[in-house]
Amino acid sequence: MSRVCVFFLLSFIFSVHADPKVVNLFRVTSLGSLTISVESGGKIFLASGDDNQYLKNIQLTTGTTTITLDKLNDLNDDGSPKFITAAGSVILQTSNNDTTTSRLSGYIYVTTYLQAQDPTFSVYVLKTTQSISKMGMKSTVVVLNTVLRQELIDYDMPRAISYVTKIDHSPNTNLYFQWDIPASNWNDVTNNTFFRNPIELKNGTGPHFKVFFDNIEPLQIGLNYWYITSMGPFNLFLENKYVSDHSYTTTAVNTTGIIVGKSFYADRVVNFQSDTSRSSASGFFDSAYITDDLTIKLQFVGASFSNTLRKESETQNYAWSPAAPVNLTVTSTSTLPGTFYIQYFAFAGDLQPLTSTVATSLMLQTSTTTVASTAVTTSRIITTTKGSSSNCGVHILISLLLSMVFC
Ligand SMILES: *[C@@H]1O[C@H](CO)[C@@H](O)[C@H](O)[C@H]1NC(C)=O
Ligand SMILES: *[C@@H]1O[C@H](CO)[C@@H](O)[C@H](O)[C@H]1NC(C)=O
Ligand SMILES: *[C@@H]1O[C@H](CO)[C@@H](O)[C@H](O)[C@H]1NC(C)=O
Ligand SMILES: *[C@@H]1O[C@H](CO)[C@@H](O)[C@H](O)[C@H]1NC(C)=O
Ligand SMILES: *[C@@H]1O[C@H](CO)[C@@H](O)[C@H](O)[C@H]1NC(C)=O
Repeated sequence: MSRVCVFFLLSFIFSVHADPKVVNLFRVTSLGSLTISVESGGKIFLASGDDNQYLKNIQLTTGTTTITLDKLNDLNDDGSPKFITAAGSVILQTSNNDTTTSRLSGYIYVTTYLQAQDPTFSVYVLKTTQSISKMGMKSTVVVLNTVLRQELIDYDMPRAISYVTKIDHSPNTNLYFQWDIPASNWNDVTNNTFFRNPIELKNGTGPHFKVFFDNIEPLQIGLNYWYITSMGPFNLFLENKYVSDHSYTTTAVNTTGIIVGKSFYADRVVNFQSDTSRSSASGFFDSAYITDDLTIKLQFVGASFSNTLRKESETQNYAWSPAAPVNLTVTSTSTLPGTFYIQYFAFAGDLQPLTSTVATSLMLQTSTTTVASTAVTTSRIITTTKGSSSNCGVHILISLLLSMVFC
């Protein structure tokens, strides 16, 4: 057995369980080296829009290998990013001065051993554009964004972004977008989902039903990194680009889109196309970690539903109503409201036809289900789960009463 093999064997034996890691390069200061505990056998990637002139002054050592980061700042011919395999901890050292270091935007990402071994797990570094096409019955795709090279057109323009279009998959494929990087037990983690297609809705205590969207608005994901999990084949196209969308009009009646806020935020409105000839439904999913305040308001014809968060959090909350939407506004009194993810949706034609009825008013009740006047002919329930950051969950049942008057 060669010495290299013995070294790898030893490092596997002595390797400890470690979570996947992200380390920003601005943390690697001239004061000394930075040691990151990672799993041996994990893959080490660099996502960076920084100049190679500075990256070449940063050394990465793992086991017996030392390379400079400019060598990792590259893609293979097939568009996949270069990586090296961890053999014990990763040590980073720099000869850049601290002014240069503080301006670096790139970061190192290290997977776990199992993720590196999994053929359904892949990683992309988005520099300009990237097509992603997966044929397998299951896949996890990590997207590492790099700094946006675009003139500042809005003060809330994100620092890094994926602009996602051409999402193409069958209604039988469940597609999920999730924030952060996949955890060690990534196959079990779903509470960080910020976009899904199809969506699944609960109808009161009745059956769940699925709605698949053929049309998806361009999705702007202003996060440093995120990932896709898919239960079937899909294609999509990523661009490192930002388009101002503070007032946005949807491109179809049946559609879904997202609003993500991570740092600076300016109010947004989504104007919906509607089809008054058919019954409609609309709503949103949200996860929000609000340090100031945020109001998500869905305006229907003649009624509205709003969800206001004040220094509170909620995870995987959703609200919907069998009513045609007019607009969705997401507002805050603060320019730094906190982090939030909203997926809105609207569709027409799948609900029980509300023949010869007109929705005249929508009433919202919290905590109780109220059967009101005789004018109420049907009621549907919206369930939301709110939890404070300390995790003492308060379950609020909001019942939405749809009053209808027969013409
Ligand atoms: C830091 O390094 C940069 C690039 O090498 C150089 O232009 C700058 O003058 C240096 N700053 C200090 C304070 O040494
Ligand atoms: C998701 O669930 C895990 C436990 O399964 C928990 O540690 C984590 O904080 C949750 N994340 C969110 C965003 O609620
Ligand atoms: C949303 O629609 C309502 C009802 O038509 C309208 O009064 C309101 O001004 C709209 N909001 C925005 C921000 O356009
Ligand atoms: C909109 O979605 C509904 C529910 O899936 C479907 O019944 C209807 O045909 C769709 N309409 C269009 C124009 O695709
Ligand atoms: C929702 O449930 C109500 C009452 O159970 C039923 O009448 C209605 O058809 C259901 N709607 C959908 C879209 O399944």
